[in-house]
Amino acid sequence: MNQIRIVEHPLLKHSLSILRDKNTGTEDFCRHAVIVSQIIIIEATKHLPMHEKSVITPLSDTQGYSMEKSLVFIPVLRSGIAMLLTAKELFPWASAGFIGLERNESTAVAHEYYKKFPPGIQDKHILILDPMLATGGSLAYTISALKNKGTKDISAACIVAAPEGIKLLADKYPDVPIYTAAVDSYLNNEKCIVPGLGDFGDRYFGT
Ligand code: URA
Repeated sequence: MNQIRIVEHPLLKHSLSILRDKNTGTEDFCRHAVIVSQIIIIEATKHLPMHEKSVITPLSDTQGYSMEKSLVFIPVLRSGIAMLLTAKELFPWASAGFIGLERNESTAVAHEYYKKFPPGIQDKHILILDPMLATGGSLAYTISALKNKGTKDISAACIVAAPEGIKLLADKYPDVPIYTAAVDSYLNNEKCIVPGLGDFGDRYFGT
């Protein structure tokens, strides 16, 4: 089953176009990365459970809600950090785990250099943050590491996805929904997404 969920919003399209523009500098790139991340993360968390509670307004009692505090963000280092900052602003009580993967430039195969997940992760709702879904290797590796810890409810938030990565994930992990602002055309020989937006981490961190 294809679990790709394309998030639609005029502001998302507007800000994504600014991210794509090669003339956008680091300052504007960061600003619009925040807007794009906010919209995608809000959409990717709309299934999370809530509790009903009563609230007393200045005028009367009414029905209110509070979210179950069971959300864990897993940014894929390094570019996932960009989305984590926004995610933590929206959900400051959520915990975070980290996975550091480095792509071998010639093979594009992901190599793990760091991993730390919070305790009790198996009963939590996991949202992986990985802005660029290219080959899908990093995301597949992260999902496998989380499933090895017994997690069952995993979603991923990306900004741009390539058909090659989407297919890999649909074949290997059809139970994991992937939220993205765009599905682009293809991967070039360097495994960069075309048209894409270039190297997300380099543009966000100004490297
Ligand atoms: N990672 C990026 O930052 N950009 C791509 O095009 C592919 C992977």
